[in-house]
Amino acid sequence: MEQPHQKKVPHVLIFPLPAQGHINSMLKLAQLLCLAEFHVTFLNSHHNHDRLLKCTDLGSEVAHWPGFRFATISDGLPPEHPRSADFLIDCIDSLKANTKPLFREMLISYCRSDDPITCIIADGIMTFTIDVADELAIPIIAFRTISACSFWSYFCIPKLIQAGELPFKDDADMEHAITCVPGMENVLRRCDLPSFCRAKQLTDPFLQIVQSETLNSVRASALILNTFEDLEGPTLSQIRAHFPTTYTIGPLHSLLKTRLTDSTESTHKDSSSSSLWKEDRTCITWLDSQPSDSVLYVSFGSFAVVTRFELLEFWHGLVNSQTRFLWVIRPDLVNGKGDMGHIPSELLEATNERGCLVEWAPQQEVLTHHAVGGFLTHSGWNSTLESVFAGVPMICWPFFADQQINSRFVGHVWRVGLDMKDRCDRRTVEMLVREMMYENVELRKRAAKMADLAKKCVSRGGSSYMNMERLIEDIRGMSL
Ligand code: UDX
Repeated sequence: MEQPHQKKVPHVLIFPLPAQGHINSMLKLAQLLCLAEFHVTFLNSHHNHDRLLKCTDLGSEVAHWPGFRFATISDGLPPEHPRSADFLIDCIDSLKANTKPLFREMLISYCRSDDPITCIIADGIMTFTIDVADELAIPIIAFRTISACSFWSYFCIPKLIQAGELPFKDDADMEHAITCVPGMENVLRRCDLPSFCRAKQLTDPFLQIVQSETLNSVRASALILNTFEDLEGPTLSQIRAHFPTTYTIGPLHSLLKTRLTDSTESTHKDSSSSSLWKEDRTCITWLDSQPSDSVLYVSFGSFAVVTRFELLEFWHGLVNSQTRFLWVIRPDLVNGKGDMGHIPSELLEATNERGCLVEWAPQQEVLTHHAVGGFLTHSGWNSTLESVFAGVPMICWPFFADQQINSRFVGHVWRVGLDMKDRCDRRTVEMLVREMMYENVELRKRAAKMADLAKKCVSRGGSSYMNMERLIEDIRGMSL
């Protein structure tokens, strides 16, 4: 029986949106909290948990993490549902309607157990979790897995509407400057706003959901962002006017590495992968035999899809640039299906000579491999941060949501990449690949400098390192 004066071990429940990019960063945070000797329950959808167990060793690796456990919950969707970008709204609606009551029941049963949840860290795009936490008087922190610049632009959507900037007129000039997002007056053009701002009607469900979830997240007691002060300081000042307690603890994948190196506990291991696709490690062997900085890594993340036309334009552009390339072609990349159709023989021959295709790669390892000299990316936030940390310059081809803003910041503010948004023709691909890989020395230098700053932030005494300490102490305080 626990004595009244004994300190309770904090028990944190972490609940990501069931999607790859969200699971990756939130799982790193879970591991960091385990290092602080907290109990951590990581809540996955049944569907994604099955995939994780099929594709990774995570099931056996958690044995090395005392205090860590997985729990699973239904996302309310039928097994055959595609759960792809086109159906993201379905997923969020279903979580609200079907998962919310199950989540409530789950928390109540934890409350009655001898290891009750003392803090919830939930994905900030699922604010129904705040309703439940408030009802049960459990402290809750919102974790937004996107960049601060995207989060701030989402938060300013009401301002954009009020100023008449949204919705765009049919003949709107997409280069037109946007001036009503505070702090970004000289940065954003219409085309840089999140993709859902291109909706013709303000009643568009994607625009509505993102807007309401973002505004609602102020109801959480604090905000966690996977970013770092030296990268997004000015935007963070804007955010802190509304979210005074904002912990910036990124890049989380490297903060975890630093903390593991510090840790004296040899039983703790970094989970090698939290992938929902099976990683193909043959690409590492291929990279090992390539010269330094010679390979362009191409990946469009977990949601983006391309048309067959776009696939071929990219392929021709890559081949015509004469660069070596490693390309992740997910089984559902082309039109959400496995069928690429006929590929011209000259492309296949050139790929055999200087390319490598895989369905899913160990991306963080790829980006830090000496052979990789550039990244053609969809500008997902995890991919962007992983590239920034590795000092690898980017060509950005944003697909949806936050990615349009991320690519603008990469190209125009941080200047560690080239923004290729809304263009997809072989000539542009070839030209930008050549510029990034062979001509623009300044780009590479700036990427290296930014990587140094990222490393400092996660090192002992750095801002992300210290913010993590503060987060740990604050969560400890919640369980007293
Ligand atoms: C999307 C959004 O774009 C992102 O900004 C948001 O926060 C989450 O939803 P996604 O398409 O999954 O994310 O992109 P990204 O955020 O870049 O995450 C992809 C993750 O998968 C990265 O951590 C990357 O390392 C990993 N990955 C990708 C692999 O491990 N192997 C691959 O072959 C491709």
